[in-house]
Amino acid sequence: MSDVLPGFFTQNQEKITNALKRVFAAEEKTVSAALTEASLYSADNGGKRIRPILLQAAALATSGESDDMRLDAPACAVELIHSYSLIHDDLPCMDDDDLRRGKPSLHKAFDEATAVLVGDGLQAKAFELLACAPGLSAQQRVSMIEALSVAAGCDGMVGGQFIDIQATNFDITIEQLQTMHSLKTGALIRASLKLGGIAASASEAQLRALDEFGGYIGLAFQVVDDILDVEGDTTTLGKTSGKDSEANKPTYVKLLGLAGAKTEAQRLLKSALDTLESFGDSADALRDIARYIVERDH
Ligand code: IPE
Ligand code: IPE
Ligand code: MG
Ligand code: MG
Ligand code: MG
Repeated sequence: MSDVLPGFFTQNQEKITNALKRVFAAEEKTVSAALTEASLYSADNGGKRIRPILLQAAALATSGESDDMRLDAPACAVELIHSYSLIHDDLPCMDDDDLRRGKPSLHKAFDEATAVLVGDGLQAKAFELLACAPGLSAQQRVSMIEALSVAAGCDGMVGGQFIDIQATNFDITIEQLQTMHSLKTGALIRASLKLGGIAASASEAQLRALDEFGGYIGLAFQVVDDILDVEGDTTTLGKTSGKDSEANKPTYVKLLGLAGAKTEAQRLLKSALDTLESFGDSADALRDIARYIVERDH
């Protein structure tokens, strides 16, 4: 595995972190400073920002433009849903993980009740950002709210997380594992691409191509996460390695072995790249991110 960040990442990671900080700076005026501090702890750290960067790259593929202030609100919204999902994923009643992005998980740095509430607050804030997104039409805002709420909810990320918890200590088939991964991780990645497409006024055909790309790359993302849990070290990952086998989680590595999971990740990458043909060069950032998703070391 290598970890060379595509240029599009390095240009945008800091921009996203700054936009997230502005969200909480505005918050400080209206709610408890302690709650803001805990919310900022979750947002202002070493996250890779893959979902907002995919959103920007989808807008770039669609319209040739990604440096657009109108992308800030939807980009922050998808990252806030992701951050909330990690805070809850780390709780003792879920994966019981004490380390996240190289720092104590939120429930360790603060306490469990704060972690539950910060997650709840980040989720609500994501939809507030979309409802009030500057520069977007009412139709665009409603379409984004619909896409993100479906992806985050019981037919998306929450549904996948539920299957994950239910399947812990049980054997499941490869088809069930694929469904679980596509929901718990793929759904939010597909939604990120869709929001970028909606912001850039994508055609139905462009939205379909982005969604197909997201289906492959979203699944690949979790396959690689499973591989890294086995091959990565805790310092590089910023989260505890070996947790999946310790907790007897169903993973691609468990079902296919390490070599089989790697072959599957490469197959998904190739299929993802094939879906981008109609975009031409404007999808080069998406292509780079897809390769990074499969080749990353954390
Ligand atoms: C980790 O996601 C959780 C999964 C969905 C597999 P990321 O690897 O994107 O986590 P951060 O945001 O970079 O910490
Ligand atoms: C988490 O999957 C997916 C989410 C929806 C949060 P994991 O449990 O594998 O994520 P990590 O490995 O803790 O980051
Ligand atoms: Mg989990
Ligand atoms: Mg976990
Ligand atoms: Mg994992």
